[in-house]
Amino acid sequence: MHDRLNNINGALAEMVKSSPSNFKTPCYVYSVSEVKRNYQELKSVLGTELIYSLKSNSNIDLIVRCGDVFDDGIEIASINELNLIASGESTKYINNPSADKNFIRAAVSSKATVVIDHVEQLEILAELSQRRKVNPLVLRVNPFVLKRFNVEHPSVRNDHFGMDWQHLVGCIKRANELELKIAGFHLFKGSYSFNKTAVATAKSALSMLYAVQEFMQDEVEFLNLGGGFSEDWRADSFDFAHYRELLSEFPSSLRLAHEAGRGIMASAGFFLTRIRYVKSILDEKDNLTEYAICDGGIAQNFLLAQTENAFRRLKYPQIISLNEKYIELEEDCYLVGSSCSKDDLIGQLKKGSNKPQVGEYALFNYCGAYNSSYTVSSFLKLPQANAYIIE
Ligand SMILES: Cc1ncc(COP(=O)(O)O)c(C=O)c1O
Repeated sequence: MHDRLNNINGALAEMVKSSPSNFKTPCYVYSVSEVKRNYQELKSVLGTELIYSLKSNSNIDLIVRCGDVFDDGIEIASINELNLIASGESTKYINNPSADKNFIRAAVSSKATVVIDHVEQLEILAELSQRRKVNPLVLRVNPFVLKRFNVEHPSVRNDHFGMDWQHLVGCIKRANELELKIAGFHLFKGSYSFNKTAVATAKSALSMLYAVQEFMQDEVEFLNLGGGFSEDWRADSFDFAHYRELLSEFPSSLRLAHEAGRGIMASAGFFLTRIRYVKSILDEKDNLTEYAICDGGIAQNFLLAQTENAFRRLKYPQIISLNEKYIELEEDCYLVGSSCSKDDLIGQLKKGSNKPQVGEYALFNYCGAYNSSYTVSSFLKLPQANAYIIE
């Protein structure tokens, strides 16, 4: 964990210790300064525009507080996300293969740019353009097209986003017939794809650009190269200087962009839950396991439970002790949530660490991206997590 994050973590632990009643658990705590720092530093090492992907964290208080840095735009994937920020000043991109006429109409009304996933969405936009002004559009390219322009491009997972080469060319021609202006193209190869594929993608995109130009009526003016940054991209030792050099080969008139959620939000979010009970269970081999039963878990923070990973790597939370008494844990201890599900296992503490006590708090870091937004909240009618914003 980098020093600055350590400081935020330490300051937050002190706040909880000195005024526990200010934090109604389970809750998320988001740091505005960490979001801004992640955004500004990532944008600076990329040397391009950086679009924020709202699906990673759509807490509106946080977005409003960070609004002054997200000036390259916000990517939106649902009508409810759009409604959240529709009245704001920021540039908006809507992008979802399932976007229907309602969503696209709302997008046009709020002056968003539509990222066209397939030609049917283009037809909807054409119909709407008869009554409303539409922004020049962006066409989404399926990652398979990248291989066509660079055989050395690493393999990418099959996905249903965007268009293959034939459909892309067809869509450009149709847009020309409909007199809809194309601003450019959107490439996204999935989360965590950046380190492995960014250089190859830039090379492919460069060749692709010249190939599409043949069908275009106007110069391509915008290219979103995607993203897929990890939560800890500074530690990934990616050679950003070399990458920027490669990007300098694109025509200088072209606006280049990347898009990120996790790389901006993950480290800026903490999850806080309070320990309601502690108990131990002896198994048939006489092994004792300690459990700390918390007031929040899978129902408020689905990703902590790691149910989607074949090998669960549970997180080690920081225990915020309210008294200074240190009692050593004699066995490993598991933290469990409040949902009665066997899968509601959210963290662990190693034998030898400070034994958690009833009423203490467990603080999990790196919970700012998807932890809240990717959680199904209606199970057992358990309460949703609260959210607090700190500087
Ligand atoms: C089109 C698009 N852009 C950006 C993102 C954000 O990805 P990440 O949070 O990994 O940066 C996603 C995530 O699913 C996406 O689908």
